[in-house]
Amino acid sequence: MIVPINLEKQESVKYDVVIDEIPHLTFQRKVAIVTNETIAPLHLEKLKSKIDAYELHVVVVPDGEEYKSLETVESILDELFTHKLDRKSLLIALGGGVIGDMTGFTASLYQRGIGFIQVPTTLLSQVDASVGGKTGINNKYGKNLVGAFYQPEAVYIDTEFLKTLPKREFSAGIAEIVKMGIMFDRDYFEFLKEADFSDKETLEKVIQRSVELKAEVVNLDEKESGIRAVLNYGHTFGHVVENETNYREYLHGEAVSIGIVMANRLALELGLLSEDEAQEIEAFLEKHNLPTRYVIKDVDAFYDKFFLDKKSFNNKIKFILPNGIGHHVVRDDIESGLLKRVLSTFTSV
Ligand SMILES: NC(=O)c1ccc[n+]([C@@H]2O[C@H](COP(=O)([O-])OP(=O)(O)OC[C@H]3O[C@@H](n4cnc5c(N)ncnc54)[C@H](O)[C@@H]3O)[C@@H](O)[C@H]2O)c1
Repeated sequence: MIVPINLEKQESVKYDVVIDEIPHLTFQRKVAIVTNETIAPLHLEKLKSKIDAYELHVVVVPDGEEYKSLETVESILDELFTHKLDRKSLLIALGGGVIGDMTGFTASLYQRGIGFIQVPTTLLSQVDASVGGKTGINNKYGKNLVGAFYQPEAVYIDTEFLKTLPKREFSAGIAEIVKMGIMFDRDYFEFLKEADFSDKETLEKVIQRSVELKAEVVNLDEKESGIRAVLNYGHTFGHVVENETNYREYLHGEAVSIGIVMANRLALELGLLSEDEAQEIEAFLEKHNLPTRYVIKDVDAFYDKFFLDKKSFNNKIKFILPNGIGHHVVRDDIESGLLKRVLSTFTSV
């Protein structure tokens, strides 16, 4: 199945997201696959066997969010220059969101920009990170603060890659999937509630709908000046949870799961969500082994951390909230008193 991405509202950027077995790919140009030490032994040979290129190179970088850095980008660039890649050459990202974001960013830099293709291998990167053209790296000031909007030429999603993915990583991807249903599509949420994620066909349908919804949002707002921010549901709270736990305790999707529960409690206070709906969402997260509890030790310290978020503007924090399941609202007028009251409901187990 193919989801066409057509960013007609922006420039004329078009590419396909192909959800199927990786097809045979022929390139009359130099190609470099960028991957990491964990994924290379598992999946590199399979990808290489599908590619015919003028020259095929492989760049293997260390695994981990801490290597999503300018230093690693430099090391990839070094290899590209060593192999004399030219302006027509192509990079292929084989990996999760870290490899995808970093490879895309490197492609945007090499000789002022060469093409790149995404071959995402985590559920999170298949449903979210590989589509939409956000690329970048982390630095000492924070996550994803350096980067570029740079769209891939194509995205190839093969669910077979997920067979080697640790269960926890798989669940983390489900948090980003359910986010799409809660924000945009009640029917999709209902479908997800019943879905058997271990069934290949169901999983492909789930990925397809997530990619379609993301594509619609990106088409409306490639550079995140409006509706794209809605994809950050659960993230405003989740980022603080990640920051408070030094990015060690929770995977990103797990922190988003906690963030969804917190955002829902605020939505409940504002009369946007019913108790039953909040329960329904929590039950879904728990069914997929995602965390829904977090103990805030210091409400004021937690509150202050909201202002570190890239999405805060003129000291106003933007909250992305469900307006019933399947709809969203963006609010930047939440009073600190109300917010702290909501946060204080998380100070005991
Ligand atoms: N560009 C975007 O729009 C966007 C959206 C969401 C997240 N992100 C970024 O994505 C990153 C998180 O991505 P992620 O969750 O994919 O994490 P990740 O890339 O770190 O992958 C998670 C772990 O799984 C391993 N792995 C990957 N595929 C595997 C497979 N098939 N089998 C076994 N192990 C495998 C990786 O080596 C890594 O250890 C973050 O840096 C985040 O900022 C970007």
